[in-house]
Amino acid sequence: MKESVGETMMKCVIPAAGFGTRFLPMTKNSPKEMLPLVDKPAIQYVIEEAVDSGINDILIITGRGKRAIEDHFDIAFELEYILKDNKDEKKLREIRKIAELADIHYVRQKQQLGLGHAVLCAEKHVGTQPFAVLLGDDIVFSTTPCTKQLIQQYNKHKVSIIAVEPVPDTHIHTYGVIKYDDPIDDKLYPIVDLVEKPTKEQAPSNLGILGRYILTPAIFDCIRNTKPGYGGEIQLTDALKELLKEEPIYAYEFYGTRYDLGNKMDWLKTTIDVALMRQEFREELLEFLKQKITS
Ligand code: UTP
Repeated sequence: MKESVGETMMKCVIPAAGFGTRFLPMTKNSPKEMLPLVDKPAIQYVIEEAVDSGINDILIITGRGKRAIEDHFDIAFELEYILKDNKDEKKLREIRKIAELADIHYVRQKQQLGLGHAVLCAEKHVGTQPFAVLLGDDIVFSTTPCTKQLIQQYNKHKVSIIAVEPVPDTHIHTYGVIKYDDPIDDKLYPIVDLVEKPTKEQAPSNLGILGRYILTPAIFDCIRNTKPGYGGEIQLTDALKELLKEEPIYAYEFYGTRYDLGNKMDWLKTTIDVALMRQEFREELLEFLKQKITS
């Protein structure tokens, strides 16, 4: 079922213009979003989540060196010709399905000025409706897709909704962290303040922001008024602090398992876990890992 926002369907924005410096040298000339999780690029998981959440209109924010993303979601005529010739119907269907997943649009962020700025590049496409933002650094596996859970919360409360999850002390300094008031509902908290990458001592809670948001269009003016912050970049978290002065924002502790793909170690762990979820690899991979542990 399509999730609606008033009369129209919710659009989604996937910022994918970052340099991916934590993945160098791999990302020197290839998008981080195209890193594989077994046999699918990370961004395909994110787009599938959006589609499974009822979203059909997807805007990807791209930049220099990101052509591979556009090619992946396009029709590959030569490849289809070969697969047809080989009578490999199964692969042919799989390949074609990728090109037909959704209505995908692209906008270039000409200068990588930060995540907030990347979201601002979506303004023309999004217009004056609330919209979803999904970051490719986070993959979430859940029975109800994470974005769908957020849209359901939005439809109930009509305010911006941010996905959060409990983060261990040792990792809190890598997150935007929320300060919240008494819960409104099960797992739903009114946000009082947001702190970008606090020390363990500064952190106002253990609830870290991850890459799933439903935002009202008021965020665009807030981003315009946001000065460069952490790392000299225009941060979405800082713009959310501005938005908080004008409108309530709720944090939602979603149901599901989140995997971080933002750095090499987490990507390695996620790859192994995703492979272990696949029956065709599980036994052999477990055996291999056992051997590694004992050797
Ligand atoms: P990150 O800071 O995690 O991504 O931004 P990055 O800059 O690509 O990676 P590192 O830190 O250098 O390794 C979160 C998301 O925002 C996008 C990124 O593509 C990523 O999906 N982003 C970031 C933009 O689209 N534009 C920017 O200017 C910055």
